[in-house]
Amino acid sequence: MLEEQHPGRPAGPGQPQRLDIALAGFGTVGQGLARLVHENRESIRRRTGKEIRIKSVLIRSEHRRAAVEAIGARAVTDYRELLDDPDIAVVCELMGGTGFARRFLEEAIAAGKHVVTANKALLAENGMDLFAQAQARGVHLGFEASVAGGIPVVQPLKEALAGNRLQSLLGILNGTANYILTEMTDKGLDFGTALGQAQQLGYAEADPTLDIQGIDAAHKLVLLIRLAFGVDYPFAQLPVTGITVVTPMDIAFAREFGFRIKLLAQARLVDGKVEAGVYPALVPEGYLLASVSGAYNAIRLEGNAGPVVLHGRGAGDMPTGSAVLADVMATIRHDAPDNLGFVDSRLPEAEILDLDDAVSEHYVRFIVPDAPGVLRDIAGVMADHAISLQQVIQKSRSDAGEGIPLVFLTHEAAADAVHKAMRQVEALGLTLGTTMHYRIL
Ligand code: HSE
Repeated sequence: MLEEQHPGRPAGPGQPQRLDIALAGFGTVGQGLARLVHENRESIRRRTGKEIRIKSVLIRSEHRRAAVEAIGARAVTDYRELLDDPDIAVVCELMGGTGFARRFLEEAIAAGKHVVTANKALLAENGMDLFAQAQARGVHLGFEASVAGGIPVVQPLKEALAGNRLQSLLGILNGTANYILTEMTDKGLDFGTALGQAQQLGYAEADPTLDIQGIDAAHKLVLLIRLAFGVDYPFAQLPVTGITVVTPMDIAFAREFGFRIKLLAQARLVDGKVEAGVYPALVPEGYLLASVSGAYNAIRLEGNAGPVVLHGRGAGDMPTGSAVLADVMATIRHDAPDNLGFVDSRLPEAEILDLDDAVSEHYVRFIVPDAPGVLRDIAGVMADHAISLQQVIQKSRSDAGEGIPLVFLTHEAAADAVHKAMRQVEALGLTLGTTMHYRIL
C-alpha cells in the first residue's frame, strides 16, 4: 500500500508528474500533513496535476524514525541531505524555534528550494530578512500554517481580500488561551486544569507560556499586520498582556454585565499609523467573537469594502497540516512567488500609535474596604481624570479576603487616564488587593 502511495519512480506516460517534498520535523503538524498527502492524493492531483510525495524527513531524535519510515519516507539526520537533493522542490520547516530553523530556511532559500513554514515566532521576530531573501531568489515562502492553523487567512489577505483596503483587524488567535478562558467561563475550571487539558489535546506550544502570556498571539498579529497593512510592526514594540491575570472573579463579573473575557489581538490604521496590541478584553455577549469557543480561532477584518469574519480551527494536526499542504500546492499552481502579497517584500516599518492613547469603554475592578466614603472617594478620583462612569457593582461578600470587590464600567476614555486613576486610587490607600483593568470592545 505504501508502494502504491509513493511509487518512488518518475511518473510514467499518462500518470501525473510528481512533486517531491521534504519535511524538517515530524511532530503533530508533520504527521497531519503526511496523512492529508495520503488521504487527499486524488484531489491534490485534480487540483495541481501532480502527485505529492514526502521523500525525506529531517529528524532530530531517533524515536521519530519508525513513524517516518511508516509513510514510506526516508529519515535523515543531516539537513544538507535535503537541500542537496535535486529531486526535492519544496521543504517544509515544521520544527519550530528561532535558531536552527532560521539557518535551515536561509540555506534552503539559498539552495533555490521553495519553503513552507509554520514558524510564526521566527517570521514575526526576525522574518523580514527571510522574505527579502526569498524574493531575491524567486522562491515561495509559504506561511499559511503560521497564523490560525486551519483558517485560511494568509492567502485571502494576499488575494481574495486584496480589493478591500483594510483598516482594522481583530482576532482570537490563540486556541490554548481561548480554550482555557472558555473552560473557566463555562465549566468553572481553574486555570491550571484547563491548561493541562489544552496541552493534552495538542493545542499548546511546546512552551505553553507563549500561549498564556499572549506571545503566540502577538507573533500571529505581527504577521497579519504585514499582510493587511503592508507595514512591519516590530514585534519587540507590540504591547502584550496574557491571560495569567484573568481571575474567576472577573470572569463572573464580566458575565454579570453581559460580556465574555477573550484574549484579543487587535490592530487598526489611524491616519496611516498603526495602533495594535494583544490583551484580554471584555467582548459583548452578542458579538460573533464572544461565541468563539474552545480552541477555535476567529479573525474579523474590516476595510473600505466591508467586514469579513473568518472562523475555524486554529491548531491541531489536520487543520494546520492542511494549511501547509495548501502552501505546497500553491508552489505548483502559482509561478510567481508573492509571499507577502505586495510587489516588494521589503515592507516599510510601521509608524506606531501608543495603545495607551486608544479610547474605549473600560472595566475596572478594585478590592476595597467595606467602609463609608470609599465609593465616593474612588468615584471622585475617576472624575478628576474626566472618566465618566456607566455602571457600578459592589458586592458585600466575596472570596477576596477582608476586602470587597467594587467594579466600574466606564464610558469612553483613554486607557492612559484609567491607568492614572487606578494608580491614584492605590496611592491614596483605598485598595486592599490587586486592581484589574480590561478594555471593553
Ligand atoms: N499554540 C497555538 C494555539 C497553536 O494554541 O493557538 C498554533 O499556533
